[in-house]
Formats: sequence, C-alpha cells, structure tokens
Amino acid sequence: GEAIVLPDAGFGFAGFFGTFDRGSAQRGLQVYNEVCAACHGLYHLSYRNLVEIGLSEDQARAIAAGVEVRDGPNDMGEMFDRPARLSDRFRRPFANELAARAANNGAYPPDLSVIAKARPNGANYLHALLTGYVDPPAGFTVAEGMHYNAYYPGHQIAMPPILNPDQVTYADGTAATVDQMARDVATFLAWAAEPETEQRRAMGVKMILFLIVLGGLTYAVKRKVWADVK
Ligand code: HEM
Repeated sequence: GEAIVLPDAGFGFAGFFGTFDRGSAQRGLQVYNEVCAACHGLYHLSYRNLVEIGLSEDQARAIAAGVEVRDGPNDMGEMFDRPARLSDRFRRPFANELAARAANNGAYPPDLSVIAKARPNGANYLHALLTGYVDPPAGFTVAEGMHYNAYYPGHQIAMPPILNPDQVTYADGTAATVDQMARDVATFLAWAAEPETEQRRAMGVKMILFLIVLGGLTYAVKRKVWADVK
C-alpha cells in the first residue's frame, strides 16, 4: 500500500539521554483510566509499576483500590470481584476476546501495554492515530461502522474518534486539547511498553563513564610501567 508518513510529535524520550516526562506520563495515565480503559487493557502492567512514573505508593494504591478486579475461585468455587491491590495487573475491560468483539462491532481493541513497541515509531504513531480522524478524500468509501483515519494502515479503523476537547480535567491545570491528551497518553504508553528503558539508559551512561575512567587508568599505568625504558 501507500507509504504513510507520520508527523514528528517531538517526543523528548527518543534521544540517548531521554527520560519520560513524568507530568505527561501521569496525565496520560489519567487519559487511559478515564477514556481508553473502557475498551483496552494493559495486560503487562501492574498498579505497583505506577511508582515508576512518579506516583507515591499511596497514590498507586488508591488508583488500584478504585478498580474492581476479578478473583477466585473462593472456598465455594466461585469467582468474585474485589478492589485491586498494588500487586494486581490492570483490570481488563472484557472477560475475553469474544466479549470484547461483541461489544465493538466485531473488532478487537488490542492490549495497549506493548503497542508502542509493537508499532514502528510507536509514540509518534499513537499521537498521529489519535489526532488523525479527518474527512476521507473524495472518492474514498468508508465501510459501515468504520472510521477514516489518516495514519491507520488502510485508513479504515473500527475505533471511533475517541478524544474530544476537555474530555478530561487535568489535576495540574494543563489544557486538555485533543493534541495534548494524545501526546500524554502516547507518552504513558511508550513508558508502559518499556518501563525499564530509563534504568537501561542510566546503566549505559555509567558503563561509558566507567570505561573512560578505566581507559585513563590503563594509560597512566602503561606510562608508569614503561617510564624507565629508553
Ligand atoms: C484499536 C488506542 C480508546 C476501541 C486501537 C489501537 C490503538 C488504540 C493504538 C490499535 C491500532 C493499530 O492496530 O495500529 C486507543 C487509545 C485510546 C483508545 C490510546 C484512548 C485514548 C478506545 C475506546 C474504544 C476503542 C474507548 C471503544 C469505544 C478500539 C477498537 C480497536 C481499537 C475496536 C480495533 C480497531 C480495528 O481493528 O479496526 N486503539 N484506543 N478504543 N480501539 Fe482504541
């Protein structure tokens, strides 16, 4: 098919020293919780992971406690709902794929915990996708129940335009434009797809510093050992 060129949303975490913008990731968590969680799960993420984007353990615990997860079987062999704990994975919106498809016109809202890695140029793609609902070009027929999106491969997606201005109210006062919400949830999902990235980068930088110091020492020792050899 035709090559789709993604606009560069200018995410700062792409670079070598890049870290995730904590404020943006936290706002993105809010967008996920209030908007995306109705249809999409975060299968590989636990509530306790949220301390990595700067929430306190109490804040993460409070978010978990506001969500009912399925547990069981109990002594009677029954399944039951209970408030989530830090150790629980994020709640899945549907019991299984069949139920998810039944609620979405046959389409399956995928797990979002690894989507930023599963798609090329993931964060930019997510931002583009969420801001990419435009009128189809003349002559393009959009199938029943589908929506035109400039950045979805094939341009027809079952997910309706989800974000509307001021759909969430950010605690930090940031204006909730569609672009801002898309940017924040893309940041959150980029972090979710590799929560260990920052640690890995920090390790890489330490390793390079170590090698520089080791190289310097080796050179100094070499000079000393050979000093008397004329
Ligand atoms: C697909 C993100 C909210 C229903 C997708 C995909 C992404 C995504 C990344 C996959 C695109 C691809 O395959 O490349 C999001 C985000 C949301 C959100 C970040 C919140 C801001 C929702 C909501 C619903 C929904 C609320 C249900 C009302 C779907 C469906 C698909 C989908 C049915 C499958 C589309 C298809 O196969 O054609 N979404 N979504 N999404 N989403 Fe969402």
